[in-house]
Amino acid sequence: MPFGVIYIAIMPTVDDPTEKTLAELGVNDAQGVAEKFAEVRTRFDRQVAFDADEIRSLMLHEAWLGSDSDPVTSLRNFWVGRKAGVLTLITENWLKKSPPSLKGVVGKQFNELKTHIETKLEEQRKRIEEKTEAAALNREQVDLSLPGVIRPIGSHHLIRQVFQEIEDIFFSIGFSIVEGPEIETPYYNFEALNIPEFHPVRDDMDTFYLELPKAAKTPLLLRTHTSPMQIRTMEKQKPPVRVIVPGKVYRRDNPDATHSFIFHQVEGLAVDTDITFCDFTGTIDYFVKQFFGSSVKTRFRPSYFPFTEPSVEFDVSCIFCGGGGAAAGGGTCSKCKGSGWIELFGAGMVDPAVYGFVKYDARKVSGFAFGMGIDRLAMLKYGIDDIQVFFQNDVRFLKQFP
Ligand code: DAH
Repeated sequence: MPFGVIYIAIMPTVDDPTEKTLAELGVNDAQGVAEKFAEVRTRFDRQVAFDADEIRSLMLHEAWLGSDSDPVTSLRNFWVGRKAGVLTLITENWLKKSPPSLKGVVGKQFNELKTHIETKLEEQRKRIEEKTEAAALNREQVDLSLPGVIRPIGSHHLIRQVFQEIEDIFFSIGFSIVEGPEIETPYYNFEALNIPEFHPVRDDMDTFYLELPKAAKTPLLLRTHTSPMQIRTMEKQKPPVRVIVPGKVYRRDNPDATHSFIFHQVEGLAVDTDITFCDFTGTIDYFVKQFFGSSVKTRFRPSYFPFTEPSVEFDVSCIFCGGGGAAAGGGTCSKCKGSGWIELFGAGMVDPAVYGFVKYDARKVSGFAFGMGIDRLAMLKYGIDDIQVFFQNDVRFLKQFP
């Protein structure tokens, strides 16, 4: 409906007949009364036919419709409002002021009009409500045929992936995987590993102690290595023991390309009645070949750890130059400094003194242990030259290892 038509249709006539009495309107018989009521009814019917939007577009008439922001309510007020609604005006001006001879007719017409208006207003309310609801449902409809939102799927951090590779290798040869607390007591981190209080190796492992209440039974520290789990495992379990322990460790190191105050290790421990040095080196050699590829060689050199005797350091033939010590473009290989070997990790046969702490009979059992730095292994295998990238969570780095 063009706006102008609506405008005229619901615009109140300047001379609203309901503001006058019937006598003033020159009505003095039943037919005249019926005609006047018919006029009002037509006017009402036109207005009530509009939908909410059409009424709203006539907010120009707010003054007339009342200041209610809801146009349907405004329309209702205009017609049945108690104070100044059309029905009230008709009661006051037509019904109350009609001559006794017409009262019956006016009353009857009034009742009919009132019923009509109330019914229609109620119908309009329902109609608009349903329409609004239908529109809302329409808006909220889900189109299942639309392509979904594709959320990028993350991946495991390279360190986690390397943990997994190592776990798979050892799992396949009968080791189980255990984890332990990152907050340790000095007893497990040092003493039970045969590192008494003033032993010089503690200097290398100076670490973070927790601030505790004076009454605390024991100091606590962030573990400097995963080795304490050797003790915790043997305390709980009789031989045979074959475990690896992946986890985070902490040291008071200054960060640089190869140092971080937090890093990762995998500890290994195998103890049984007849484990020899050959079992030990064979296991390590197997692992290193599985991890770096079957073409690498391993070797070990004497070393020292308080909890192993003898202690060794394992090396792998340089994976960058193939062990020849020469760089591809001439000169010496910068990774192994021309030696053809790269240091991997420490290991050894479990020191009999350690068995004393866990009530194993050192005359009956033997075994080996190792502790490797995972960050270092990951850097070697994947050609990463700065340990810090593992901790920076730069997606550009992480994405390279999906
Ligand atoms: N715990 C040692 C460290 O963090 C590494 C280590 C060396 C662990 C020899 C062992 C081992 O189990 O036998 O430096």
